[in-house]
Amino acid sequence: MKLHHNPASPYVRKVRIALAETGLADQVELLPAAGHPTDPGTMPVGVNPLGKLPTLEREDGPALYDSRVICRYIDDRSGGKLYPAAPKLWETLTLEATADGILDAAVLMVYEGRSRPEDKRDSDWLEAQWSKIARALDVIESRWMAYLEGPFDMSHAAVASALGYLDFRHGTRDWRGGHPELSAWYDAILNRDSVRATMPEG
Ligand code: BEZ
Repeated sequence: MKLHHNPASPYVRKVRIALAETGLADQVELLPAAGHPTDPGTMPVGVNPLGKLPTLEREDGPALYDSRVICRYIDDRSGGKLYPAAPKLWETLTLEATADGILDAAVLMVYEGRSRPEDKRDSDWLEAQWSKIARALDVIESRWMAYLEGPFDMSHAAVASALGYLDFRHGTRDWRGGHPELSAWYDAILNRDSVRATMPEG
């Protein structure tokens, strides 16, 4: 298998955590890719019309995307350790979607900063994105901590990737303020091999 990746991408990080957790990392060749919202550069447009990361090329079918589809595929291929059976599955998927929503807003904020000079950035829009992130963090702190203290699954990987990305690109925003339990959980999960080995770079 071939994974089109970028070491800064938090969506790729979810996939790399899944590969490490399932022991499939050795079966995947990492293909570096980079682009810009207005220039696909080396993004995998030939196998993914959206040209987005991560994209997974496999031997037995069309390339897979996005990160949630790839993580389900890795889980299926490895014997299913990363997603519990229903009804718990609905919680896992909802927490994963919440973490991915944090990522979507956090990445859009980064793109806004990269695409426009400082005086042309829309600060109301940026703050609206951050409000979305803050609300999601509040909900995780108030509703999901007991779940996060339970057995590791894909939603744990997604939350770890989201918090790691906030540290990486939005360190001045202090996501830990007002979220003491989530902050302590994140410090603890940094000791996990799959999380430590996939820290963002770039
Ligand atoms: C970043 O540099 O922050 C980034 C790179 C790839 C995907 C998303 C974010």
